[in-house]
Amino acid sequence: MDPAGAVNWAVIGTGAIAHRFCSDIRYSRQGRIKAVASRDPARARAFAAGLGVGVTGDALDAVLADPAVHAVYVASPTAQHRDHALAAIAAGKAVLVEKPLAASAAEAEEIAEAAACAGVLCMEALWMRFTPGVRAAKRLVDAGRIGPLRGLDAHLSYPNAFDPRSRLFDPAQGGGAHLDLGVYPLSLAFHLLGTPGEVSHGVVRAPNGVPMAGGLVLTYREAVATLGFGFLAEGRNDAVVTGASGRLGLQAPFLCPPSLSIRTASPAVRPDAESAPPLPAVRHGLRGALPALKALTRPLRERRVPTLYEGTGLQYQVDHFAELLAAGETDSPVMPMRQSIEVLRVLDRFALSDRP
Ligand SMILES: NC(=O)c1ccc[n+]([C@@H]2O[C@H](COP(=O)([O-])OP(=O)(O)OC[C@H]3O[C@@H](n4cnc5c(N)ncnc54)[C@H](OP(=O)(O)O)[C@@H]3O)[C@@H](O)[C@H]2O)c1
Repeated sequence: MDPAGAVNWAVIGTGAIAHRFCSDIRYSRQGRIKAVASRDPARARAFAAGLGVGVTGDALDAVLADPAVHAVYVASPTAQHRDHALAAIAAGKAVLVEKPLAASAAEAEEIAEAAACAGVLCMEALWMRFTPGVRAAKRLVDAGRIGPLRGLDAHLSYPNAFDPRSRLFDPAQGGGAHLDLGVYPLSLAFHLLGTPGEVSHGVVRAPNGVPMAGGLVLTYREAVATLGFGFLAEGRNDAVVTGASGRLGLQAPFLCPPSLSIRTASPAVRPDAESAPPLPAVRHGLRGALPALKALTRPLRERRVPTLYEGTGLQYQVDHFAELLAAGETDSPVMPMRQSIEVLRVLDRFALSDRP
């Protein structure tokens, strides 16, 4: 970073998330784009030209050799993260690698080892952990506001028809719903509940074998996380954290929730559909309808906490990264490399090579 604390970023790749990152960075405190790298330097220059005066575009080697670049954002497909992260580390640059950190735990370990040897800061761009809503949820959980955790229910699904050429399905680019979406609910479980004791899974595969949808059950000593992801349909995409004395909801999309709902008292009424009276309650007077009325007003007793954000929310990780750089840190306490690797170890079970 420069003496004023500004961090000059180079972006590797000119695709969808690279555009989003370059747009959101205006909301960061210290970040600014300095350079763009592409397999095609002309494409890098065209991208850079759209970002304003002083942003350069070039081939990867030239960009990494630029002493004005303080940090590198790897925005290439997942299967290319390893090579691009290792190149940035070899050039002595701090590196923020798009999620998931790599296409496998073994590749992620290579990145972590290289960064540790070089003494450079490296972090998975798991932006979810830095959004105002997820930060607030983590604070509430850690403060014990819903008591000891008992469960997490988190699913993330968006419809994507099978297309073998798309990054989402191409194994050569790290395709598969587990790597594209599954990493989010899984990383949330690790963030809130820690490392599970046991893990079981189910998967639906696309015609070429890559995961199209899947589910995970993580078992902890006193909690269970049920997680889902997929390209088959649009899911609810919210998350619910249950504790022994309350419940916390992260409104969809739970990655960057616009609000949380928190309910801390146990419900006085347990509506039970099976034993509900078959006749309209009003026939026996309001007294008979009290349980139903209480159930009806239950949502009103939930407290909503707005957790608004600017842009699409990628800038919060950029601010965190700048703080780590300023402090001379090489690993993030919020998104430690060790946990990125542990998450990938779970996701490895969906890999093509592990098919029965
Ligand atoms: N944080 C989020 O919300 C979010 C959202 C979407 C995706 N992602 C992650 O971001 C990464 C990129 O996703 P994307 O949707 O931006 O993909 P994309 O639109 O396909 O862009 C990837 C870019 O990487 C570059 N690239 C370098 N080597 C490549 C190769 N061998 N094959 C193809 N492209 C290559 C390409 O730019 P050049 O041709 O100019 O080199 C391409 O435009 C993935 O790891 C994904 O998981 C994160």
